[in-house]
Amino acid sequence: MTFARISGTGGYLPERVMTNHELETIVDTSDEWIRDRSGIRQRHIAADNETTSDMALSAAREALAAAKVEVADIDLIIVATTTPDRVFPSVACTVQRKLGIHDIPAFDIHAACSGFMFALDVANRFVKTGGASNVLVIGAEIYSRILDWSDRATCVLFGDGAGAVVLQAAEEAGIVSTHIHSNGKHEELLYVSGSVGDRGTERQSDAAFIKMRGNEIFRKAVAALGNIARETLAGNGITKSDLSWLVPHQANLRIISATAKKLCLPMERVVVTVDQHANTSSASIPLALDVAVRDGRIKRGDLLLFEAFGAGLTWGSALVKY
Ligand code: UT7
Repeated sequence: MTFARISGTGGYLPERVMTNHELETIVDTSDEWIRDRSGIRQRHIAADNETTSDMALSAAREALAAAKVEVADIDLIIVATTTPDRVFPSVACTVQRKLGIHDIPAFDIHAACSGFMFALDVANRFVKTGGASNVLVIGAEIYSRILDWSDRATCVLFGDGAGAVVLQAAEEAGIVSTHIHSNGKHEELLYVSGSVGDRGTERQSDAAFIKMRGNEIFRKAVAALGNIARETLAGNGITKSDLSWLVPHQANLRIISATAKKLCLPMERVVVTVDQHANTSSASIPLALDVAVRDGRIKRGDLLLFEAFGAGLTWGSALVKY
């Protein structure tokens, strides 16, 4: 039987750091409120000439180097993003062009903050069924371009960045299981305004900006993430104490702590980057994974639980033997 294994990780964060104090000069907020309610201290913001595919490419190159895989050996590229350079082509096709390879399949997955979980699920299926053996799975987002910088309820929460993994065919898991869910019923709780046909000149309100009913999303996220953690453990016949690390989507430290508590995991076993990166949507899990792999906390053989929740609504998890 063939399994998929994470053989390398990579990450990219734009150079420019925006602190909470800088945000105090833009909207009616305070460093204290942002830290208390979300755990965020700073976020990285892409330069004007930087694109999602640029960031995705940098993260991918790091992951390939870590995995010691040549670009020419990649046989599938999947990018999770909701902030592509353009409506089309996909970021995955642009990354493919920038890597100088062609003819292999490359496509984007759109599942908002859960995007990396959906991308990992699809990539895992490709590898397990023999459709690919060296896959680049990337999460990359440039939310600074879809933030309303006059809306304090959203602009303080997000940041830009990219994370990537190389998934390779192996004789042992690897990706032990993936679990993905969607429910379109609550789409009004978190969405981007405007639609593809809008010309954007007559009505400023048509511009593409994130709109979020934060409090309601918060409660749904805590409930869904608790459920999916239970589903993942039960589905694999393991218990909370078998987990080495929780690598969660980084939306809010309070959501992360609530999930860790349900799993009886001390915060020392939880990878937290939300303080430094804020919410980078589908980039947040591969970025957090890369940070903890590179600083030596996550080691080969550790059992990891990834979990994410986002617009759609969408949510997902993966149990991973690193
Ligand atoms: O990754 C995708 C999913 N996204 C999430 O998971 C985010 C989920 N939601 C959250 O993280 C939290 O709901 C927030 C951090 C967005 C907000 O925290 P909260 O504890 O739910 O606050 P709230 O929305 O209930 O607002 C409390 C108060 C309000 O004032 P009043 O009405 O009580 O006077 C807001 O107007 O805080 C006010 N407020 C702010 N004050 C200072 C909202 N944003 C700000 C701000 N600075 N930036």
